Amino acid sequence: EKGGYDTFMEKEIHEQPHAVGDTLLGRTDEAGHLVLDELRISEEQLKAVDRITIVACGTAAYAGMVAKYAIEHWTRIPVEVALAHEFRYCDPIVSERTLVVSISQSGETMDTLMAVKHARDLGALTVSVCNTHGSTIPRESDAVLYTHAGPEIAVASTKAFLAQITACYVLGLYLAQLRGGSYADDAHAVLKELQEVPDKIEKLLGDLDRVREIARFMADTRSVLFLGRHVGYPVAMEGALKLKELAYIHAEGFAAGELKHGPIALIEPGQPVFIVVPGPDTPHGLHGKVVSNIQEIRARGARTLVIAQEGDTAVEPFADEILRVPATSPMLAPLLTVVPLQVFALELSTAKGLDVDQPRNLAKSVTVE
Ligand code: F6R
Repeated sequence: EKGGYDTFMEKEIHEQPHAVGDTLLGRTDEAGHLVLDELRISEEQLKAVDRITIVACGTAAYAGMVAKYAIEHWTRIPVEVALAHEFRYCDPIVSERTLVVSISQSGETMDTLMAVKHARDLGALTVSVCNTHGSTIPRESDAVLYTHAGPEIAVASTKAFLAQITACYVLGLYLAQLRGGSYADDAHAVLKELQEVPDKIEKLLGDLDRVREIARFMADTRSVLFLGRHVGYPVAMEGALKLKELAYIHAEGFAAGELKHGPIALIEPGQPVFIVVPGPDTPHGLHGKVVSNIQEIRARGARTLVIAQEGDTAVEPFADEILRVPATSPMLAPLLTVVPLQVFALELSTAKGLDVDQPRNLAKSVTVE
């Protein structure tokens, strides 16, 4: 049942090229345009959307954070991400032109379900991004966009995360396509690149021996920090969450720009820090800014574990370790950069002799508030 792998989580990590590929499958026509009739929301209704609120918890909320960057960039529609358990109680501002997108692997998370019901009661249009057919959240929503990751057994989410991000990209690109003009042209180009990502993940998965080795020597580590920026910020958060859940190690993810506003005080000699580096062609010179961050923390003794694109030589002088990922366009990078972090957490958990698939105190789906 584990397909030759020791754990479900390892198996599911290796299924990620399919999780992304299958989530794209059958959603384009021959001309390469997105077709989402399955949504059963009229184009007019979608074109009228002037605001998007994403509701989710945990890893799914990090997928939502990635989606915010991408959807705002592609559509210029404002997107807000709310933790589902906060959304209900914060007197949310929604109208019939608000699209509330819930993200849930299980489709049964009580917090997310209640957020969706609340949004619907307030008159919003609700779309569920969900991995489980026939589950409650899609039933309670106006529309559903299924992720096709297949059943996820390990308690810690991996392939569902990539599929959630992919589905949100599809939704964002579809909205851009509906806007037409240069929005549609740009969306078309990004979609083509997105279709190349599964092969890149496959290649990356064959190339992760070094991160496994690093993890095996870190079984005694008490704290690990993760830095990212732009779409790499939620990836840093997700890397930290995986480590907490699986290896019971204190871990924190930060936006790299926040470093000098406080967290840099945590840096002391030997402190391991993962840095998710944006690709060199990320707008606004963000790549260079993150490279400077690496330099700053290294000068204070941090052990820098750098996740960088192939060919990015600028990081080399400041990296204790470089974990390479294939190059892709800036918005799509999370589908690649998170993979070494998943494998790091898996391997460290294994090195500590812990139960990777069933971490303590956690349940696969949280059906109580
Ligand atoms: C983390 C993890 C959780 C879930 C969260 C939402 O590895 O699995 O953070 O992502 O509980 O679950 P779903 O997506 O089923 O609503």
